Amino acid sequence: MLKHKDMKKLFLLVVSIICVQEISSLSSPWSWECINEACVKKETQPGQEEKAISLEACQIFCSEESGLWPKPNGVINVSKILVPVDPSLIEINTRRLGSLTSEAAKLFKEELIRRAPTARDVGDKGKPLSINIFHTEPDTDKLTLETDESYNLVTGIDDKGKLQVNITAPNFFGSRHALETLGQLIIYDDLRNQLKTPIFLNITDKPAFPYRGILLDTARNYISVDAIKKTINGMAASKLNTFHWHITDSHSFPYVSKSRPQLSQYGAYSPRKVYSQKDIEDIVDFAKVRGVRVMPEFDAPAHVGEGWQKTGYVVCLNAQPWGTYCVEPPCGQFDVTKDGLYDALEDIYGDMVEQFDPDIFHMGGDEVHFTCWNQTKSIIAWMAQKGWGREEEDFAKLWGYFQDTAADRLFKKVGKNIPVIMWTSTLTKKEHVTKYLPKDKYIIQIWTLGNDPQISELLEEGYKLILSNYDALYLDCGFAGWVTDGNNWCSPYIGWQKVYDNKPKSIAGSRINQILGSEAALWSEQVDSTSVDSRLWPRAAAMAETLWSDPSNTWREAETRFLIHRERLVRRGLDADALEPEWCLQNENECPIKKV
Ligand SMILES: *[C@@H]1O[C@H](CO)[C@@H](O)[C@H](O)[C@H]1NC(C)=O
Ligand SMILES: *[C@@H]1O[C@H](CO)[C@@H](O)[C@H](O)[C@H]1NC(C)=O
Ligand SMILES: *[C@@H]1O[C@H](CO)[C@@H](O)[C@H](O)[C@H]1NC(C)=O
Ligand SMILES: *[C@@H]1O[C@H](CO)[C@@H](O)[C@H](O)[C@H]1NC(C)=O
Repeated sequence: MLKHKDMKKLFLLVVSIICVQEISSLSSPWSWECINEACVKKETQPGQEEKAISLEACQIFCSEESGLWPKPNGVINVSKILVPVDPSLIEINTRRLGSLTSEAAKLFKEELIRRAPTARDVGDKGKPLSINIFHTEPDTDKLTLETDESYNLVTGIDDKGKLQVNITAPNFFGSRHALETLGQLIIYDDLRNQLKTPIFLNITDKPAFPYRGILLDTARNYISVDAIKKTINGMAASKLNTFHWHITDSHSFPYVSKSRPQLSQYGAYSPRKVYSQKDIEDIVDFAKVRGVRVMPEFDAPAHVGEGWQKTGYVVCLNAQPWGTYCVEPPCGQFDVTKDGLYDALEDIYGDMVEQFDPDIFHMGGDEVHFTCWNQTKSIIAWMAQKGWGREEEDFAKLWGYFQDTAADRLFKKVGKNIPVIMWTSTLTKKEHVTKYLPKDKYIIQIWTLGNDPQISELLEEGYKLILSNYDALYLDCGFAGWVTDGNNWCSPYIGWQKVYDNKPKSIAGSRINQILGSEAALWSEQVDSTSVDSRLWPRAAAMAETLWSDPSNTWREAETRFLIHRERLVRRGLDADALEPEWCLQNENECPIKKV
């Protein structure tokens, strides 16, 4: 007869045998080994199961910078010993820090539990993880171009056997990046169903450029709130910090303005394809916890149309043949001589300032067609009354008048001057720019070619620039035409390699300090909620490393880590494009074409 105690022991023994069998029957015959700086697949020999190494574990030791993306721009020391972590025993001390930090800590925990929901089955083998976050500056919840996003991350085992992590950063925007880095260093061992992390870490890191953005156009096609949130999740995973929201255009006006609701009533594609005040608040908060500012763009005086029908402020609305009056249908441009227009703009700016609390604002300002204004009788009469002519310089003056008046209305609503971003255009040409867009007020966003002489002209004049040169950063290029057959205007498709190698230094040279950063743009003529992920990702993440790490290497050296990051984005719920057969991820260095 077995005693009760012994029966319990036997029961436990049987259960653990079953568990072990279950794990070994789930596990794979394959193990990975780091050979010549590449993870190589090897069959596990009988009796060597204990030593089998999962692919993710191998990558931490074998990949350059431990598989991190973007790679740290500072000192990195990662131990080669992994310890299991119990995701149910994570404790994050954010005492005396703002609510953003505790929300970010909560997200970090949830992400780990989502990654390995059943890892708790082996939880008794995992170590508790205790994270302390220290901020060295007074807490702020507003990201600006001056915000220090640096951090230090140190891990060690404390005297109670707990894995302790200390994160020290000036502020929340640094410490959330540290959590992101730590999360990337907690890997899933699929041979053992365990989360694991290096026993010792010491990483000091900071971004090379303060402005690291994605532009999303939600006016050519409507993009759902959920799809926008997924985009922001991808940005957080890649340490991008600015979601530039091109929220209106001539095609539709989905932005619900509190003071001018008629605009979205007339201008949205449908009553449901709008961004309500609640939607915007939701997106702004969602982004902030992920270290991302949401910057609105209210594009003017061109790129307006739908929504403005009842106001009388838009001319050339859907004018045909459109090629004469604008770059794509439907045409539309403000009649900038109407005083009432500026009151409407002031109201819209006021709504946006209240909702977005912007530290920088985008006023658009691209693709104004002078032919439209030149064929509008009331505008010509207004100009004649002022004694102006009808040549390019006169229309530039008219545009300058609009820009000045509109910017004043914006500053009035903000309560002070804030930096305004404008696209390159006729107005940013050498002969106009210093007259109408003074450099202490305006930042210029480049969307011409990376070798456009205008870039060095603007730099020499002292302007600060953001780079979105379309030959490397327009992610809508390379699909079919839509106003005709063939390919769209900026074809071919831009591969991630070209995005990665678009280095600000090679564009700006010695005036690199005037480059605030870059932005990948996704114009939405041919994309909507169904395909936004695959257009943006993982390519936008290639730019993210170029901006964060300012690497001197080319895309080739970054390739393995980039494939690892693509898998990470997919795990985070993004439908990021596949770049290569998965075989190439599992058989590193076997796919690149060899020079003979
Ligand atoms: C990394 O940290 C370990 C443990 O503290 C230390 O022994 C080693 O010298 C460090 N390596 C570098 C390159 O700093
Ligand atoms: C974390 O910081 C605390 C308090 O300064 C310190 O006692 C502890 O040793 C640190 N732990 C690690 C792993 O650096
Ligand atoms: C981490 O690295 C920094 C810079 O290399 C060094 O000054 C610091 O002492 C290191 N901290 C630990 C805990 O090893
Ligand atoms: C505007 O129209 C007038 C009259 O046709 C023409 O002389 C002038 O060159 C036009 N201006 C521009 C900028 O095209």
